[in-house]
This record gives sequence, C-alpha cells and structure tokens, in this order.
Amino acid sequence: MLDRRTLLAAMASAPLLATGAFAQAPLLTARMNGANVQLPIIGLGSARRYEDPQGEAQMAPLRATIARFVELGGKLIDTAPTYGRAEEVLGQLIAELKLRDRLFLATKVSVDDRAQGLAQIEASFRKLRTDRIDLIAVHNLRDVDDELAILRDLKAKGRIRALGITTSFDGQYDAFEAVMRREPLDVIQVDYALDNRNAAARILPLAQEKGLTVMINLPFGRDRLFSATRDKPLPDWAAEIGATSWAQIFLKYVLSHPCRPIAIPGMAQPRYVDDNLGAARGILPDAAMRTRMERYIDAL
Ligand SMILES: NC(=O)c1ccc[n+]([C@@H]2O[C@H](COP(=O)([O-])OP(=O)(O)OC[C@H]3O[C@@H](n4cnc5c(N)ncnc54)[C@H](OP(=O)(O)O)[C@@H]3O)[C@@H](O)[C@H]2O)c1
Repeated sequence: MLDRRTLLAAMASAPLLATGAFAQAPLLTARMNGANVQLPIIGLGSARRYEDPQGEAQMAPLRATIARFVELGGKLIDTAPTYGRAEEVLGQLIAELKLRDRLFLATKVSVDDRAQGLAQIEASFRKLRTDRIDLIAVHNLRDVDDELAILRDLKAKGRIRALGITTSFDGQYDAFEAVMRREPLDVIQVDYALDNRNAAARILPLAQEKGLTVMINLPFGRDRLFSATRDKPLPDWAAEIGATSWAQIFLKYVLSHPCRPIAIPGMAQPRYVDDNLGAARGILPDAAMRTRMERYIDAL
C-alpha cells in the first residue's frame, strides 16, 4: 500500500492519478468485538429506502446496491425490525444474490417487554432468512435490561455473535452512558457527524476506553450536510485527505475519530456505494485536519 507521503506527492503532481491510486487502495477495517473479525469501516444502512419498495422497479436498485457493496468488499449491513419491511426485503435480496455468507448482518430489538423481545427476534431470524444474526443491538435503549438479558442468552447459544445498544438522540446520552458503564457490551451505535459532534464529548471516548466497537449512524445527518454544502466546490484540503466528493469528506471526518468507528451511511443506489466506500480507502484526516474540517462546517 502507498504511504501518506507518496500519496500526497502523487496528488500534488497528478490529481487524477492520485484518485486512481486511492481507488485501488484496500478498504480500511476495524475490529468487531464479539465476532472477533475485522470489518471494512463503511457499512450499509437500510433505514427509509429499504422500508417499502414497490415492485421490481424499486427492488432492482436495492439489489444492485447490495451486489455492488459486496463486490467492492463491503460486509456490514445494518437494519432494524422497525424499518418497515427492511429486514424482509434484505432477507429476500441476500437470498436471491446468495450472499449471506459474505455479509455481517446487524439488526436491533425494539420492544417494551421480554415476551415481545423474544417474538421480535425470532421474526428477525425468519425475515432475514438466516440461522445466525451477527449482531443484535437494543434500539434506542428500549426495555434495555430485559433485552440485553435475552441477547446474552442468544450469544451463549451461538445464535448471535455480538450484542450492543444504539441511540441517535442527545436526550438519551446520559442513560446511554450509564448502560455503557454498567453492562458488558460488544458494540455501541450512536449518531455522529461533522456538524453533530456531541457524541465526541463523552460517549466516543468512553467507548474507546472500554474497547467497544463503535458504529456511527446518521453520518450525513440524512440530508443535513448535503444541504449545507450544496453547490459549494470541494475545499482545497479535500485532496490532502484523498476525498473526491462531499460524502467522502463527511465520512472521513467521522471515520477518523480516535475510537476508529465503522460508519453505516444509508445507501440505496450503487453509485453511493462506490462513493462512500471510497472514504474507507487511503488516508484519514489527522487531528489538525479534523479541526480544520470542523471550522469549515461551523462557518457555513
Ligand atoms: N437509533 C438507531 O439505531 C439509528 C438511528 C438512525 C439511523 N440508524 C442507522 O444508521 C443508518 C444511517 O442513517 P440514515 O440512513 O438515516 O442517514 P444518513 O446515513 O446520514 O444519510 C443517508 C442518506 O444520504 C444520502 N446519501 C448516501 N450516500 C450519499 C452519497 N454518496 N452522495 C449523496 N448522498 C448520499 C441518501 O439520500 P437519498 O436516498 O435521499 O438520495 C441516503 O438516504 C440508517 O440507515 C440505519 O441503518 C440507526
């Protein structure tokens, strides 16, 4: 692999060549606790666009997206039983494409009591058409104690490999942190983005301290960061981190947090897969560059 200095030198003399060099660089990986595997640091989020596709016209782009994701080396797909029919849609597409063995499937449990949890999890196995789900996380801390007990039991039986908790609300951060402190977990999933950095105050450092795998949801704040930068040219410094699009800038910022997270941008188009996996190649911003990126976005 090319080192940073070689890449920067190549970019200074021939930007297109440098882009090509990054395109061939391997995907950077992070450790997934529980499963003890290295996973590429970009996963695929399935909220919204996978919730209710109508007919083949809307299934085809989703199928092409998943096929492209795996073709480029992607592994982690994140879903939830509360994303409409997303689990069922993914189960169908993955079965059609015969890709189950090449994917790391993460879903959630999102209910109010133990009986509902047991039922919802069994439904997830059926909908995803698999006898092993790689990761299940308690969604937004709902019924967290009961559900973690169920997940521990499933993990002991080998039906899941990793367990964790998720949130995407600042209002839950205190409670989230308390669960991180008191429960043995493999993974946390939290919202974090260039313009939404509150998780970096305590949650991400705590995860780092405890050695937890971190997944980042809402890395673009849905449309928020794209709206803020629409029609703006890429800043000069984009080339210094090997970013050729706004999406790569936003993702490389998130991915360069010292907790070394995995980001799961929502992707329902193959061209997003190409673009977003590009953020997991080459170099990531250092601390000085991260500050520069924050200043840029804060000034908009
Ligand atoms: N509490 C929780 O556990 C929780 C909460 C929220 C999300 N999540 C998970 O995190 C995932 C990510 O969140 P999200 O999908 O809501 O928001 P997001 O990742 O911040 O934004 C996704 C949207 O960005 C656009 N996009 C993606 N790649 C792009 C690219 N390269 N260029 C331009 N636009 C691009 C797409 O919009 P269009 O499709 O409109 O083009 C896509 O729907 C979810 O899918 C879900 O799996 C978990």
